[in-house]
Amino acid sequence: MHAVGIVAAAGSGLRLGADQPKALVLLGGRPLVRWAVDALRAGGVAEVVVAVPSGERAAFAAALPAEVRLVDGGATRTASVRAALAAAGVDVDAVLVHDAARPLTPPDVVARVLAALAAGAPAVVPVLPVVDTTVLVDAAGAITDAVPRADLRRVQTPQGFDRATLDAAYARLDDAAELTDDAAVVRAHSVPVTTVAGDERAAKITVAHDLALAELLVKR
Ligand code: CTP
Ligand code: MG
Repeated sequence: MHAVGIVAAAGSGLRLGADQPKALVLLGGRPLVRWAVDALRAGGVAEVVVAVPSGERAAFAAALPAEVRLVDGGATRTASVRAALAAAGVDVDAVLVHDAARPLTPPDVVARVLAALAAGAPAVVPVLPVVDTTVLVDAAGAITDAVPRADLRRVQTPQGFDRATLDAAYARLDDAAELTDDAAVVRAHSVPVTTVAGDERAAKITVAHDLALAELLVKR
């Protein structure tokens, strides 16, 4: 199996509110995108393509090893992954799609995803249980129902795919489609998606609090 890693790093990071693209924000002195690329490589993915905000190539090139390929991302995460997928080599038969915003993903998570693909799964995502009581509310904020949480999972990245399966799913997906992850892209075409254990350390950096927590983890 020859896997390529795709890192979605073309977002602006509005909710983090930094004065530069979120993927370039420093954590322990290294840009988030560098952490994400290193996590993939440490987990066994040699070749990596990164989707970057257009106009930011030079800054990302300076933040990453020379052998990492850069492509211009799009206006949505879906468009960014689509662009990076198109740049993957012809000899690639598996794809791992990862968020630059998950810098502290342990290599073990990457290895579990690769192992499930090698065992024949067409699509695999790392997940964690939901630990809080989870409810539905109406427009006024009143609880209308509780959701049984035993069957709920929180979905992380990297998400792994058989390359032909992911290519076909993106080819059939509407250009304007905006899905929050890649499992949703293949599920739209009825591909079964299996799960492996995720890790709390693979949490996504979305708001300033997430970055502060990550800094504490790095210092420890
Ligand atoms: N992403 C991307 N291309 C986009 C939008 C998002 O590659 N057009 C990437 C982000 O760089 C990030 C990942 O998708 O690594 C997850 O998205 P999110 O956490 O929402 O990051 P941002 O979109 O940058 O943040 P925000 O939504 O707060 O603006
Ligand atoms: Mg976003």
